Amino acid sequence: MTEKTTVLKLAQVTKKFRRFAAVSKVSFAVEQGEVVGFVGENGAGKTTTINMLLGFTSPTIGEVEVFGQHISPATAHVSHRRIGYAAGDMELPKHMTGAQYIHFVMAQSGGKKHAKRYGELVKAYRPQLEKRIGTLSRGNKQKIALVAAFVTEPELVVLDEPTSGLDPVMQSVFLATVREEAARGTTIFMSSHYLQEVAEVCTRVILMKDGGVVEDLSAEELAERGGKVVTLKSYKEIKPPEHARWPSSHVESDVHVLAFGYVREITPLLKWLASQEDVIDLDISEHTLEEEFKHIYSGQDDKGSGDE
Ligand SMILES: Nc1ncnc2c1ncn2[C@@H]1O[C@H](COP(=O)(O)OP(=O)(O)O)[C@@H](O)[C@H]1O
Ligand SMILES: [Mg+2]
Repeated sequence: MTEKTTVLKLAQVTKKFRRFAAVSKVSFAVEQGEVVGFVGENGAGKTTTINMLLGFTSPTIGEVEVFGQHISPATAHVSHRRIGYAAGDMELPKHMTGAQYIHFVMAQSGGKKHAKRYGELVKAYRPQLEKRIGTLSRGNKQKIALVAAFVTEPELVVLDEPTSGLDPVMQSVFLATVREEAARGTTIFMSSHYLQEVAEVCTRVILMKDGGVVEDLSAEELAERGGKVVTLKSYKEIKPPEHARWPSSHVESDVHVLAFGYVREITPLLKWLASQEDVIDLDISEHTLEEEFKHIYSGQDDKGSGDE
């Protein structure tokens, strides 16, 4: 067994803008080969955290390490040779063509030849290489940014909302790139508000809320948060079963509507359903990641109530 190498580390990191803490006491470490989804609502502090990881800005308090080295705006260029970076709303040099920009990025990464990777990425993304970046649409600009982020075959790829301007076809091309990179051991740290894409490719999900980390889950733990959503309509009020998660009920033109999440074995649920009277309608659907995070966000998360 080889020792795990820590690629990213934040220790008690706080970033204040005047008196407002955009990021507050955030600590986590990312090991080599992890594919981390960094999720949270707008304003949660994702971009601010990423900007500190890249040394674009310094923490007010706390320590940020990349490849075991303290990172600051003054030293960031050293690790940048080993990092690929793209953001959804990235400013790229407008006067350069896509090809010029990508070659510029390759030249920055220590002179290694990346012709093969360049060819593969151009084939997959089909970017408009010969037009000036300033004339490209948002999606086409983003393709250039993504090719540039992956082209140097970096050890670490940091992406801030990488798919926000992409069409669904390009989004799946991007997810395929992430899988390829993960297969060869590249560490990936990507923010996203598309939870489904995060669930598809990430081995770990870190959830930010109001500047702090509120959840840090492995892919397995994430899957266990799935389960079902049960919705029952009845003439009489029905009490939720044992182990129901975040039950809610309301009355809709004299009909009682009960909804709850359920992650346990299905047989006890079926028995419970069979014993209910006056049921008018029943719906059982998959509990999506979006719904799970909605519950975490609204503070109703019970982390799987009823666990012994
Ligand atoms: N340069 C800045 N000056 C003042 N406030 C900022 C600055 N950058 C970000 N913020 C604030 O910090 C919070 C977190 O922002 P950000 O990290 O961009 O969130 P996210 O990327 O999760 O949407 C927001 O409330 C935002 O308005
Ligand atoms: Mg952001």
